[in-house]
Amino acid sequence: MNKPLRIALTKGRLEKDTVGLLEKIGFDCTAVREKGRKLILPVEDANAEVVLAKANDVITYVEHGVCDMGVVGKDTIMEMQGKFFEMVDLGFGKCKFALAVKKGSDFYGGYGVKTVATKYPNITRKFFEDKGMDVEIIKIEGSVELAPLLELADGIVDIVETGTTLKENGLEVIEDVCPISARLIVNMVSLKLRQKEIEDFVELIEKNLERKA
Ligand code: PRP
Repeated sequence: MNKPLRIALTKGRLEKDTVGLLEKIGFDCTAVREKGRKLILPVEDANAEVVLAKANDVITYVEHGVCDMGVVGKDTIMEMQGKFFEMVDLGFGKCKFALAVKKGSDFYGGYGVKTVATKYPNITRKFFEDKGMDVEIIKIEGSVELAPLLELADGIVDIVETGTTLKENGLEVIEDVCPISARLIVNMVSLKLRQKEIEDFVELIEKNLERKA
């Protein structure tokens, strides 16, 4: 038998929906649900195993071919880029990138170069380059909303899902950057070497997606 098809899942936000989808296509995810601190979990009755990783690492593992496929947010794909096939928009993990500022502040006013804090410097750079606007970008690792509150930055480019974090911290969206959702990515060599298996998997996934208008 071929070695198991290895699928990297993003831990956290996307985990529950991804496991739900795998169960829908008939994968027994008992081991994943009862994982404890284990990081590589077998899928019973299917020649597959699930690897749980942080979003950036899902891309690294798929790009290097140590995982055949991965489920990861479009936000991470856009920020990291890399060589792999992005095969399916899974339709969950929906949110958006947006530019937000302290309520009522005039981001586009004045002449000075504005400072923008973000966990996603590449996406932010591209967004402002496309506008032909020069900004200073400061990389923050988490809770980016703090940066304008502490007056480190004039604005932030960050993920907005429900909008609660912005609201509770007196910030508001002034512009949407782009929509985000979870994607299925596939290693390029795996797709060649295990084409039938992967295509069958992708077809099953596509058939079981909840398409919401
Ligand atoms: C994300 C994002 C916002 C928040 C938005 O952070 O960076 O802070 O979620 O969600 P909301 O619109 O539903 O309030 P995450 O929870 O991933 O934590 P982090 O900022 O500490 O990385």
